[in-house]
Amino acid sequence: MSEAGRVHGPLPLTGADRLTEDDLLRAYPWPGPGRWVRAMMVTTLDGAAVGPDRLSGSVSSPADQLIFNAVRRDADAVLIGAGTLRAEHYTPMRAKPADASRRETAGQLPAPVVAVVSGSLDLPWELPLWHESTCQPVVFTRTDADAGRLAMAREHADLIVLEQTTPKAIIDALIKRKLPRIVCEGGPHLLRDLVAADLVDEADITVSPVFAGTALSPDTSALPQVTEFRLAHALYGDDTMMMRYLAQGR
Ligand SMILES: NC(=O)c1ccc[n+]([C@@H]2O[C@H](COP(=O)([O-])OP(=O)(O)OC[C@H]3O[C@@H](n4cnc5c(N)ncnc54)[C@H](OP(=O)(O)O)[C@@H]3O)[C@@H](O)[C@H]2O)c1
Repeated sequence: MSEAGRVHGPLPLTGADRLTEDDLLRAYPWPGPGRWVRAMMVTTLDGAAVGPDRLSGSVSSPADQLIFNAVRRDADAVLIGAGTLRAEHYTPMRAKPADASRRETAGQLPAPVVAVVSGSLDLPWELPLWHESTCQPVVFTRTDADAGRLAMAREHADLIVLEQTTPKAIIDALIKRKLPRIVCEGGPHLLRDLVAADLVDEADITVSPVFAGTALSPDTSALPQVTEFRLAHALYGDDTMMMRYLAQGR
């Protein structure tokens, strides 16, 4: 991929000589017009994805949030598993004035579309996310979903019913809707399946300077073998490390 916009680090996200929000935007480029799937996750020093409250916010930091927001700014879709939505109660995804003209010039919708994957369709329909986001959220499910829950989902979301909700079918459906710039914000189950299908092009990983007790991490069955990425840059702030890894060959 292009080296344009690449920064070398560690570089500061906090303090007087910190990177600006636009520096951060350039540090997380979306290469080309085609598919690019980036995984955005925070982990603790002992590998936990959540804190004692079972939420990722308690192991995050203001510096981590800067990266989280920077990566979203030019994304077409924010892809999450149902477990993450049930736990994290996403707020509405709204267009931001600072991004309007850049997104319009690039032919993008005014704001990213939240896309949720769920077999059960047991989702928190009471959230303002569904009706107060700039773009209507998408829900992916399977043809064998419960009829009553399918009807409920149709009332709240742009429902995409797939024969099989394989990672490839999900990503292909997003591309078909002209949403090829995809940031997968978790959780660990969905991320594992995307990696296993070789669909993660980039992993933007924050390492928080805390231990949480690994027993608190969501449990996922292992991949058949480890999948290697290479380090593109490292940033730091609030004693937190934020790393950008690229998949082999990207
Ligand atoms: N540290 C971080 O950066 C981070 C990021 C995100 C989440 N989290 C935390 O991780 C926890 C959730 O983890 P998780 O791994 O259980 O959640 P997840 O991957 O977000 O969700 C798993 C659920 O997503 C649905 N799903 C995933 N792939 C599917 C597929 N191919 N077809 C159909 N449905 C599919 C299923 O939902 P149904 O059960 O509805 O069928 C499944 O039970 C939460 O505590 C959250 O706070 C941490």
